Amino acid sequence: MTNVIALFNQSGGVGKSTLTMNLGYALAKKKKKVLLIDLDPQASLTTFMGIEPHELETSVYDALVETFRLTILEKIYGMDLAPTNINLSLAEMELVSALNREQRLKQVLSPLFPNYDFVLIDCPPSLGILSILALTAATHLLVPIETEFKSYFGTGLLLDTVARIRKHVNPELTFAGFVPMKMDKRRSQHIRTYEQMKTELIKLGTVFPPVPDSTVFPDATEERLPLAIYRPRHPAVKVFNEIAKQLLTLSK
Ligand SMILES: Nc1ncnc2c1ncn2[C@@H]1O[C@H](COP(=O)(O)OP(=O)(O)O)[C@@H](O)[C@H]1O
Ligand SMILES: [Mg+2]
Repeated sequence: MTNVIALFNQSGGVGKSTLTMNLGYALAKKKKKVLLIDLDPQASLTTFMGIEPHELETSVYDALVETFRLTILEKIYGMDLAPTNINLSLAEMELVSALNREQRLKQVLSPLFPNYDFVLIDCPPSLGILSILALTAATHLLVPIETEFKSYFGTGLLLDTVARIRKHVNPELTFAGFVPMKMDKRRSQHIRTYEQMKTELIKLGTVFPPVPDSTVFPDATEERLPLAIYRPRHPAVKVFNEIAKQLLTLSK
């Protein structure tokens, strides 16, 4: 069974794209067949993977709006990537009146399931139609949350959205869990927010070990590399491996 995991949080900059790439890499290292889908018109994931968005001739946009055939670039750091570019921002508008539009991504992905163990969808930072497509196609939801009070505060809105998706289009959607992001152990607010996350979110799903705050992340991205290649001994690599290990048990 293919696990389709949407990495979703309507806030920008929490580390969705970073987490998508690094977890994908960790899963691929565990011999899993992984497809990453860039569903954010800003194309951060596409860029992080070393692809120039403006040089793409076709992208996720074409599959969703026209052909239903997904453009896939194979074997980048052991993963496959469905890249995107700014064209995808038009999809929001063009799908407004499309019939059965929530199902579009699911229809695009279903024929690919025999090829993959994990499909990771990097969502845009919004609650718009693209995120709805992702949450409709997903079997699981993985939520990165910054260990900042302000970021955690927005989780209520996220949970409301998930409840609506479950009620109307995808009753099977399950939380794979929550990933505390950018945690600085020297900051008491981060410790407090992390403790609060552990007590409150555990009722909904696993609260994974926190990903530490570090400038190594923008540095690795600048080099277009997964952290495990850029700095194999960095403590965050262990965290990604641990989360990946737990994701392996999802379909069991
Ligand atoms: N754990 C971390 N510590 C410090 N910076 C991080 C961390 N994770 C990601 N970043 C940086 O934060 C910025 C936003 O990350 P990104 O993955 O693009 O977030 P999102 O996809 O949620 O918008 C990037 O510059 C990235 O390098
Ligand atoms: Mg992003």
